[in-house]
Amino acid sequence: PSCVLAYSGGLDTSVILGWLQDEGYDVHAVYVDLGQPCEDREAILQKARDNGAKSSQLIDAREELCRDFAFPVLQWQAKYEGIYLLGTSIARPLISKICLQVAREVGAEAYAHGATGKGNDQCRFQLAAEALDPNVQIIAPWRIKQFRDLFPGRTEMIDYCDAKKIPVKASAAKPYSSDENCLHISYEAGKLEDPTVNGVAIVDFGMSVSPQEAPDKVEEVTIEFESGVPTSVNGKKLSPLAIVETMNEIAGRNGVGRIDIIENRFVGMKSRGVYEAPGMTALYAAHLAMEQLTLDRETVHLRDRIAPEVAEMVYYGFWYVPKMDALLAFIREVQKPVTGSVTLGLYKGNVMIQSRESPNSLYDEEIASMEGGGSYDQTDAEGFLRIQGLPSRVLGAARPRAY
Ligand code: ARG
Ligand code: SIN
Repeated sequence: PSCVLAYSGGLDTSVILGWLQDEGYDVHAVYVDLGQPCEDREAILQKARDNGAKSSQLIDAREELCRDFAFPVLQWQAKYEGIYLLGTSIARPLISKICLQVAREVGAEAYAHGATGKGNDQCRFQLAAEALDPNVQIIAPWRIKQFRDLFPGRTEMIDYCDAKKIPVKASAAKPYSSDENCLHISYEAGKLEDPTVNGVAIVDFGMSVSPQEAPDKVEEVTIEFESGVPTSVNGKKLSPLAIVETMNEIAGRNGVGRIDIIENRFVGMKSRGVYEAPGMTALYAAHLAMEQLTLDRETVHLRDRIAPEVAEMVYYGFWYVPKMDALLAFIREVQKPVTGSVTLGLYKGNVMIQSRESPNSLYDEEIASMEGGGSYDQTDAEGFLRIQGLPSRVLGAARPRAY
């Protein structure tokens, strides 16, 4: 039998690469580049081949991640449990899609990944893969008891690699684990499991400085949107990935986008995470400001009611489902007028709206103005409120006085 392995070159997937072969599999290693830190990609691919992989390849999916996954989620203003911008969650269906494309090319019937049986990632990998290919066989070694018995801890994994001459970096065990892509970095587990521990104090952040270390000066940045898609930063047209990278740089140096959350996992338990997503945090704020100018009340209120559900679906891993297709079509329609530019002021972790303009602005200074004039006649509010207040007056007359 043969399988593809979502391979990162780290300790876990290196061990899994060896173990799958011990189990009789031909293994095709796939490194999906989503912007995770990696000194030498060629070396990682070579390492997989040295360790017996039938093939190994790197597929750069960074633009696709930003354009087709992160930006629609941004347009939804989707945040899991009110705060998490879904930076890890949204990457998972794409990893599965690419691994299955490779599986088809090489004729592999199984898809292996290194996510644990306790987390969300296994759900996202598997739900996406099965939706794309119902016949795919999923191999999640961490859910297999014999595998866990063989590797109860890091020491056994390192011993296994030594015995198999798989090079492992002698990096000291970190006090927490992290997951990084071009959108965000998450830090979880280890010392962070204790919610009384100050997470932002112990994490060594990779994308942002702390607000305390940020410059004592507001940095302005102007973002342009075309139909809800960010297309330029400070007047420069950029690709989706370049937008995210540029915004990470700018917002990161101003201490923007760090959170500490206790979230409800799909598998039921609560877990504590510390995340940073400087660029996306600033883009969410700019996008919301653009919508305030360009979307009508009813449409945006409807979107706001459904957004938590979209966040939940992304978090759980229901991406390749008809309901999501419909929700993505809906948001594409909603975003049509969201065109224009927003200038943000970034200051020590804060994102302030400085100005915004749009050719599709629905904001009418004449109507809104307290200066009088325009087409709004205050006399009309008299009748509006008589009718709105009718049920309350009837109820008020029928019920005993409440005060
Ligand atoms: N809790 C976050 C999520 O579910 C982050 C998961 C991080 N994954 C990881 N393999 N370290 O999206
Ligand atoms: C894992 O358990 O593989 C990482 C954490 C998660 O998926 O939630």
